[in-house]
Amino acid sequence: MSSTSTTLTRDASGEQAPRLWSSRFAFVLAATGSAVGLGNIWKFPYITGENGGGAFVLVYLLCIALIGLPIMMAEVMIGRRGGHNPITTMKNLAAKAGISARWQGLGWLGVVGSFIILSFYSVIGGWAVSYVGTSATGTFAGADADAVGALFGNLLGSPSTLLLWHTLFMALVMVVVARGVRAGLEKATTWLMPALFVLLLMLVGYAFTTDSFGQGVSFLFSPDFSKLSTEGVLTAMGHAFFTLSLGMGVMMVYGAYLPKQVSIAKVSIAVSLMDTLVALLAGLAIFPIVFANGLEPGAGPGLIFQTLPLAFGQMPGGTLFGTLFFVLLVFAAWTSAISLLEPVVSWVEENKGISRVTSTLVAGAAIWTMGLLTILSLNEWSGFHPLGMFATFEGKTIFDLLDYLTANIMLPLGGLLVALFAGWALRRDSVQDELGMGDSAMFRIWYGLLRYVTPIGVLVVFVYNLI
Ligand code: PHE
Repeated sequence: MSSTSTTLTRDASGEQAPRLWSSRFAFVLAATGSAVGLGNIWKFPYITGENGGGAFVLVYLLCIALIGLPIMMAEVMIGRRGGHNPITTMKNLAAKAGISARWQGLGWLGVVGSFIILSFYSVIGGWAVSYVGTSATGTFAGADADAVGALFGNLLGSPSTLLLWHTLFMALVMVVVARGVRAGLEKATTWLMPALFVLLLMLVGYAFTTDSFGQGVSFLFSPDFSKLSTEGVLTAMGHAFFTLSLGMGVMMVYGAYLPKQVSIAKVSIAVSLMDTLVALLAGLAIFPIVFANGLEPGAGPGLIFQTLPLAFGQMPGGTLFGTLFFVLLVFAAWTSAISLLEPVVSWVEENKGISRVTSTLVAGAAIWTMGLLTILSLNEWSGFHPLGMFATFEGKTIFDLLDYLTANIMLPLGGLLVALFAGWALRRDSVQDELGMGDSAMFRIWYGLLRYVTPIGVLVVFVYNLI
């Protein structure tokens, strides 16, 4: 921890925040740890597969650059200026700017949204945990697509097995959050991210040896807009928020610990680039395997669990690399899940006057319980489509609905509010002061994107999906 960390004053009340990141690098690692997770390796490939490939990827990349990155800068900026949990930060900043206290609704949206996301995120994290053991015992060796598919089917079919792994994953997350996020997190991410990169590169290398590499690449990168629906565009935009951990107050919480002298633009660009790179590498690893084995790109949430084991089953040293890969996937999911629990816990802790450990237990137990809905959606309740009477929600289970509600509605809405708050509600000079870029061209481009492009983009996509 740096010497500045105990001397910086966070807000007008003179409160001290002795918990700053030790360096710019530490923040980048932690924010990347939050951003890179199941969203990149599990979700990106399967929604790309479901939405026809190239055109979807193009829209997603545009959303990252034109909407996600500007909003990330805004969210980190708000967090650093406010210096607290999202709700308190919004309340304080609104009071200081002399505007409506209703802006703290944005903080609420984040706390509730993180709560819901973590409830299903933890169940999927549990799948990854269970695959560590499956891989380590050599189950993938020589297995064909049917065997691998059956393995996954058995996992989803057993509520008690899913419950066990969900519980274990949630416990892992709670342990770190109860102890205070930064200490453990900084250390873990330092080696985690590079290791994940290396393993993904290896998988891409394997995919290159299949005769379907070209087909995979063209699936990902040659856009065919006839395959992209308006819902696909919404999914791409929602995913830009999900994968960058935006709109939930997570970047606000992490930004609150960012030392003043660090450039928000630089760290945000670094985080967005790494996140995008990991997602694209995952896509490059997975689609060649999908095509080489005659699998269906639109197979849904099980995609990586039904394709990567085939690669591990065929490559030399596959048992070892497969195990390592799933261990790293668990770590990546873990650091993201920690960032999802943090806003909830920091709010409970600061507002209910209970200790961090108790707050973690209370919040964690509630989220764990809500996770049961996702578990049952995968088996006993898989035929239950609560909103099936609306065309948009036809065939969607509770799990699908929670995913839709958060990624396609709450995150973009949160991001929209961040953009409006930083772009229109806060004074330009205080925004400029916090970003420290002066009135440079970079600043003006960012400000223009934030004030016009981002809100209009989000609204247009919303409206198109309503009509
Ligand atoms: N960005 C994380 C991922 O891609 C998920 C996440 C969403 C984390 C929102 C925090 C907030 O897996």
